[in-house]
Amino acid sequence: MTIRLCVFDAYGTLFDVDGAARAAAREPGGQALADSWAQVSASWRRKQLEYTWLRAAAGHHTDFAQVTADALDWALEDAGLEGAGLRARLLALYQELPVFAEVPDTLRALADNGKELAILSNGTPDMLASAVRAAGLEGVFQAVLSVEDVGVFKPATAVYDMVGARFGVAPQEVLFISSNGWDICAGAAYGFRTLWVNRAGAPPDRLFGRPDATARDLHGLLAQMGGL
Ligand code: LAC
Repeated sequence: MTIRLCVFDAYGTLFDVDGAARAAAREPGGQALADSWAQVSASWRRKQLEYTWLRAAAGHHTDFAQVTADALDWALEDAGLEGAGLRARLLALYQELPVFAEVPDTLRALADNGKELAILSNGTPDMLASAVRAAGLEGVFQAVLSVEDVGVFKPATAVYDMVGARFGVAPQEVLFISSNGWDICAGAAYGFRTLWVNRAGAPPDRLFGRPDATARDLHGLLAQMGGL
C-alpha cells in the first residue's frame, strides 16, 4: 500500500531537546550549566519520558508542559542547580527548541512529492505551535496532533488512533517517524510503517514491535520510502 501520510514525532525527532540546556549554558547567568548542561539535559529528558509513561500507566494524566517542568525540577535538584531564574529560562527555551538541520529540506521534499505531513506528539497544542513557529515551519503540516485531545501519553493506543481519526487512512498508509525507539516499537505494533531516526546510535528497544527501517537522521528519507 502506498504511503500517503508521514507522521512525525516532535521532541527529539524534529526538535533538538538538548537545545534548551545548550543555549542556556552559553548565556549570561548560565555559567552554572557550563560543564553540566549535557548531563542535566539528559536527566531532564529521561525523567520527562518516565513521568509520561508512569502517568499513562497509572491513569494520572497531566499535560506535557507540567510534566516537562516537573522533570526539570527533578533534574536541577539532582544536579544541585535549583534556582528560579535558570528554571524559567530553560522552560522558555524549551518553547523554542532548535529544529534539526535536515528537517526543513526533508519536509519540503516530501510535500513536493505529494505526501501529507503531520506531527503526533505528547506536547501540548501551545508547546507544539510555539516550536513549529520558532522553526519557521508554519503551514507545512496538515495537522499537528497533540495527545491532549485524548488525555493520555504515548504509547497508549488511543494516541496512535488519532491519526486514522483525523486523516481517514489505514495504518499501513502511514509512515511513522520517531527518534524514540519505544515510540517506534509501539507504532510498528499498531500497524504503521515505521522509520526509526536513531540519532543517538542506540541499540534497538526490546519491546513489542520492530522498525521497518532505521536511519541516523532524516536525510534521504524520500529515497528510503521506495523500500518501505
Ligand atoms: C513526543 C515525545 C515522545 O514528541 O518526543 O511525543
